Amino acid sequence: MPTPELSDVAKNLVLAGKGILAADESFGTIQKRFDRIDVVSTEETRQAYREMLFTTPDLEQHISGVILFDETIRQAAVDGTPFAEILSKKGIIPGIKVDKGAKPMAGFPGERITEGLDGLRERLGEYRELGARFAKWRAVIIIGEEIPSSVCINANTFAMARYAALCQEAGIVPIVEPEVLMDGDHDIGRCAKVSESTWVSLFSALHQHRVMLEGLLLKTNMVLPGKKCDKQASVDEIAEATVRSLRRTVPPDMPGIVFLSGGQGPIEATERLNAMNAMGDHPWGLSFSYGRALQQPAINAWKGEASNVPAAQNALFHRAKCNGAARDGKYSVEMEKQAS
Ligand code: 13P
Repeated sequence: MPTPELSDVAKNLVLAGKGILAADESFGTIQKRFDRIDVVSTEETRQAYREMLFTTPDLEQHISGVILFDETIRQAAVDGTPFAEILSKKGIIPGIKVDKGAKPMAGFPGERITEGLDGLRERLGEYRELGARFAKWRAVIIIGEEIPSSVCINANTFAMARYAALCQEAGIVPIVEPEVLMDGDHDIGRCAKVSESTWVSLFSALHQHRVMLEGLLLKTNMVLPGKKCDKQASVDEIAEATVRSLRRTVPPDMPGIVFLSGGQGPIEATERLNAMNAMGDHPWGLSFSYGRALQQPAINAWKGEASNVPAAQNALFHRAKCNGAARDGKYSVEMEKQAS
């Protein structure tokens, strides 16, 4: 049976003023991020980059947890202290990405199914020993003319529920992450429909798999028009559409929903989260688990140079602070002027 520790960890990840830093880029994804700053991705450069992020002074003021990649949870700072220990000493909860990626789904052209259940029980046991107290599993749902199919949605949420049950058995809080992608020219209404169908399927699968909602977090997309849609939406339209769809489909017993940034600009992602929290009280904490929206200014300032570490850390701290304020509906664009 899930322990009370699970619900404590889940609640602590969405405390007021704080959210999650997603730093779990796989080898392929971190290479893409490094390509933009002309840095070759090697074990050493990945270590240096992540050490810069995790040793940011006062990061714990606004960051409750960090999602790590398999290589990263086994890495240490140059002084030999494991990254997971650096984080937990600051009061930041270490987490781990455990899925093995979204692969083309046989028989369903254009759709993807996330793999990674084989051997997961054993891997979770090892990750717990290494310090992980929460985990993440991401599925992607792609909008196209005739997709997503209900088979793709249900296959993904079923696998996600099996993952969540294994996490709770291991004493690890599962973050379930269905991401409806922003790619395409669909409008915001279509994103709302697909997101609602996905969340309904997910919570049904979680219920069937006897997953304890109090010891779980949902990480998901905001309800947005596709990137190529002619009719883009205002900050308030996005906030209202997202909250409406979530209220229709997500049970109130779950402690929190953390958004991914998914290609939104750093300031956009902050403004939209802020608008949702400024609407008033919600049944769950609404917070962030951003990758790019937190890291982009920092990686651009870093450029692979040790001499740029203080500037990069300032940039990360600034975005964490702005998003921490947005977590409580207290952000204003004036805060952007404080960036040094
Ligand atoms: P982005 O915020 O860059 O979308 O990353 C979040 C994440 O963890 C995706 O799985």
